[in-house]
Amino acid sequence: MDQKKKILDNYKKKINLLKKHNKLYFAKDRPSISDSEYDQLKKEILELEKKNNLLGKLKLSEKIIGATPSNKFKKIKHIIPMLSLSNAFDKSDINDFINKIKNFLNIKDEDIEFSSEPKIDGISASLIYKDGLLIKGLSRGDGLVGEDILENLKTIKSIPKKIKNRNVPSLLEIRGEIYIGKEDFKSLKESFANPRNAAGGSLRQKNSRETAKIPLKYFAYGIGAVDPKVFKTQSEFLKKIKEWGFSTNSLIKTVKNLEEIQTQHSYLDSIRSSLDYDIDGIVFKVNNLSLQSRLGSTSNSPRWAIAYKFSAEKAITKINKITIQVGRTGAITPVAKVDPVTVGGVVVSNATLHNEDEIGRKDIRVGDTIQIQRAGDVIPQVIAVDLSKRPQDSKKYIFPEKCLCGSITYKEKSKSTNKEDAVRRCLKGYECDFTAREKLKHIVSKDAFDIEGLGKKVVDKFWQLKLIRKPSDIFSINYNKIEKLEGWGTTSIQNLKNAIENSRIIKLDRFIFSLGIRHIGQENAKILASFFKSIKEFSRLFDKKKRDEILRNLIDLDGIGQTQIESINNFFSNDINNTITNELVKNLKIEDFKIQNKKGKFSSKNIMFTGGFKRMSRSEAKSLVENNGGKVLSTISKKLDILVIGDSKPTRKKIETAKNLNIKILKENEWYKILEL
Ligand code: IVH
Repeated sequence: MDQKKKILDNYKKKINLLKKHNKLYFAKDRPSISDSEYDQLKKEILELEKKNNLLGKLKLSEKIIGATPSNKFKKIKHIIPMLSLSNAFDKSDINDFINKIKNFLNIKDEDIEFSSEPKIDGISASLIYKDGLLIKGLSRGDGLVGEDILENLKTIKSIPKKIKNRNVPSLLEIRGEIYIGKEDFKSLKESFANPRNAAGGSLRQKNSRETAKIPLKYFAYGIGAVDPKVFKTQSEFLKKIKEWGFSTNSLIKTVKNLEEIQTQHSYLDSIRSSLDYDIDGIVFKVNNLSLQSRLGSTSNSPRWAIAYKFSAEKAITKINKITIQVGRTGAITPVAKVDPVTVGGVVVSNATLHNEDEIGRKDIRVGDTIQIQRAGDVIPQVIAVDLSKRPQDSKKYIFPEKCLCGSITYKEKSKSTNKEDAVRRCLKGYECDFTAREKLKHIVSKDAFDIEGLGKKVVDKFWQLKLIRKPSDIFSINYNKIEKLEGWGTTSIQNLKNAIENSRIIKLDRFIFSLGIRHIGQENAKILASFFKSIKEFSRLFDKKKRDEILRNLIDLDGIGQTQIESINNFFSNDINNTITNELVKNLKIEDFKIQNKKGKFSSKNIMFTGGFKRMSRSEAKSLVENNGGKVLSTISKKLDILVIGDSKPTRKKIETAKNLNIKILKENEWYKILEL
């Protein structure tokens, strides 16, 4: 046989093998070779193609490798987004939480009942039942889209596959936390850092037989989509689903005021170490479901629930050095490098000192013995200095006036309050390497471009190798250089390529948020996106003349104030920002902002309020308008469709202007009628 045929046969054999393993891995979730063997096979094929001209022309690998999906699980949109919770750390946070609820609902004297539930430190999942049959099982994912992990969830014995009860709603979504018991974790200690990681790792196994080997458990804690809506309270829901065979936590109870919340918090904190599962706080949820629905949510978390965290774990250590860190807005944060010490199971060697004022107030010095505390995933803080242990020759810490890039830093003065900011900043933006690197980390982060595989550490590495310096570089990475790095195989590179390619299509609000303009968080980015609607309109901000006019109009937007406008102006007055943003835009397909044409009474109507209402707060009125497709304006103009006048102290001038402009006016009782209240 001639040499050529031999080479071709060998090549084809490998190609077919790769096809087979692709199918086993991606379609059947049942790989028969290890990841590294798989990578090796791909590498061999690519090398053959490189060495041999004919094979290089055939390039059969392209079709197979290029088609590799970046993720092993199918993505499915949640019927209702899975939000996260805001946190409370002390009594006063809880007091604020209760007051906000009462203000929103315009309730003064009555108590609000809460369902108090241990916050299990595991992985959340959603189970969807159709006529009592488990048909879908999703991970939380990014909250909007989850991964199809049904087969893995089915391996958990105590999750009902079929609910045997006649009164089960036809559609029932149960949300809960998957965890591993502390006792069971002992046998897994070698492979995972903590029970939570172990639970996450097991749930995301490609092969559900692997999942089945891990003793996963779960607690059901919440309602997702339900039809028909049969439950009236959270506690009634929990009681019912327990009867239907779901496992619920035995420490759940109802409480009705700040004192009862405190008592329950101290109690669970005192027994937490004796439980077989990790809990990191208590979730308090407004018990009444119709109040929950009135309260609704902000973009990230419901207004009706809060996670009251247990007090942070503390430890004593010593400061060896104080360094500074530069954030993406140029903020200079002092960081104490301390003797490594274990705080709540995690080794800590850095603690934040917040800012110059904080160091001054506590008179923190190098060489000091300090007490630090760590709460959740945030960087530990210094709580106190032990002056009795201070070395005699210790000197006051002098805060550097320069950024790590060498530029002078400034403390800005707020134009509205005329107060000096506590934070020093480097104002060089992309011209400062340290700020620029942090900006890149922000751009690729979950709420912005959400590029899986390009986390903070990877950005640091790529930065160091000069692979990326500005945002648009992300789209022209030299993968040949990455191939040579430790820890990178063909699979992970292909996954990164896919993730980057997918991120080219981005919604306008995410794009605006990703720019990292100071004071423009997710909520404000959405408001701006709804104003500009398209990238074309948004890009007018690059033009000085047009910018001034646009900025004048922005003040009409509810939620955007002088601070935000100034910040947008500062950002786009900087030519480098403009160039960088422009280059980035060229790489993207930015989707127009779609007004979520929420069907409803106020579809595409502009509404304004004056005066207070008896039966609801201004915030609830606003969210009612928005949930029914309308927009709330804060200044009066021809654009306004309806002015609603509350009985308590309306502004006469507004009413007169509205009358002159022929704008429809509603009195308080007419407003209730429209809302069918
Ligand atoms: S309710 C919209 N209840 O905590 C509110 N969450 O930070 C949804 N968690 O993602 C959460 N125990 O994974 C709720 N009893 C409980 C919980 C609980 C644990 C987790 C859950 C969620 C996270 C929120």
